[in-house]
Amino acid sequence: METNKKIQLTHLGKTDILVTPIGLGVMEMAGGGGLIGRMFPIIPQEEKNAIIKAALDGGINWFDTAEMYGAGISEQSLATGLKAAGKSDHEVVIATKWQPFLRTAGNIPRTINDRLHFLGGYSIGNYMIHQPYSFSSPEAEMNAMANLMEAGKIRSVGVSNFDPARMRRAHAALAIRGIPLAVNQVRYSLLNRQIETNGVLDTAKELGVTIIAYTPVARGLLTGKYHKDPELLDRMSGWRKASLQRNIERTRPLINAMDEFANKYEATIAQVALNWLINFNGEIVVTIPGATKVLQAEESAGAMKFRLSADEMARLDEVSHKL
Ligand SMILES: NC(=O)c1ccc[n+]([C@@H]2O[C@H](COP(=O)([O-])OP(=O)(O)OC[C@H]3O[C@@H](n4cnc5c(N)ncnc54)[C@H](OP(=O)(O)O)[C@@H]3O)[C@@H](O)[C@H]2O)c1
Repeated sequence: METNKKIQLTHLGKTDILVTPIGLGVMEMAGGGGLIGRMFPIIPQEEKNAIIKAALDGGINWFDTAEMYGAGISEQSLATGLKAAGKSDHEVVIATKWQPFLRTAGNIPRTINDRLHFLGGYSIGNYMIHQPYSFSSPEAEMNAMANLMEAGKIRSVGVSNFDPARMRRAHAALAIRGIPLAVNQVRYSLLNRQIETNGVLDTAKELGVTIIAYTPVARGLLTGKYHKDPELLDRMSGWRKASLQRNIERTRPLINAMDEFANKYEATIAQVALNWLINFNGEIVVTIPGATKVLQAEESAGAMKFRLSADEMARLDEVSHKL
């Protein structure tokens, strides 16, 4: 693979915060904590450190975590990993999220010091409302976030899973306070293209809001590993196995097309999936693949070191639409 392509940094929305087109999602480091923590294996901290170091060594400069990811476990694991890698606060960007379920905006200032505590001295580059489901209006949430900015507790504001109407309300409420809405973090991949038709992507373009694409390799389906080795599914159980099994044959034409480009660029199918995401819509989309293994983090970072041609991206676009 061509490895000398310089990684271009991109702004989070209209802020001065610069990130690499690919960050590392660390929800997978929530194992052992609360409801979400039960969905993930418990990864020893040394392994977490190695995953984080692999991401950093590959050029990744930012990380996505959340209160919901183990009520502090993922945030703390991340901070420990960054410290072990010798990274100081100004060298990295951390995005984290407030958990809104059964809460009002009044909880935002009450829990911010918990976030900062778990992040162990690293600052919050972007703070998001995780879901559009609190008891408060987006206006009240954004006012609470603006207060945190003014108090110097966070460096920018974002939302996650917001539809276009709610994005606009959040954007307008922040604008009154002179603050840009930096990001909307939403599900987006070659296998989930809803934001292209439900108005989220167009609204983001219009308002200058960065889209952070989550679940970019469809939890492994878009890496082709289950297509190439279906026996991997034998070791799995539950909803994830059922969903993978249901979708393998349906998605095979896309995996085959991606495999062709992977061979051309001496890359992996996962890298082709990520490369498409960060280039197909220009700079407006960045992404945060998760990893449970060092090799996965290395591959994710490596996806920034080549660029699919416009024709190749169009071909994947077409095949993906036909599935
Ligand atoms: N805002 C939200 O509501 C929301 C929701 C979900 C996720 N997120 C964020 O988005 C991040 C990523 O999303 P996600 O974890 O749902 O989905 P994902 O990134 O599509 O899937 C991650 C999983 O895919 C597999 N994988 C990753 N890279 C691979 C590679 N190169 N080769 C083979 N397998 C690979 C690994 O599974 P195995 O461990 O099985 O190998 C890994 O745990 C999360 O960490 C989190 O930060 C946000």
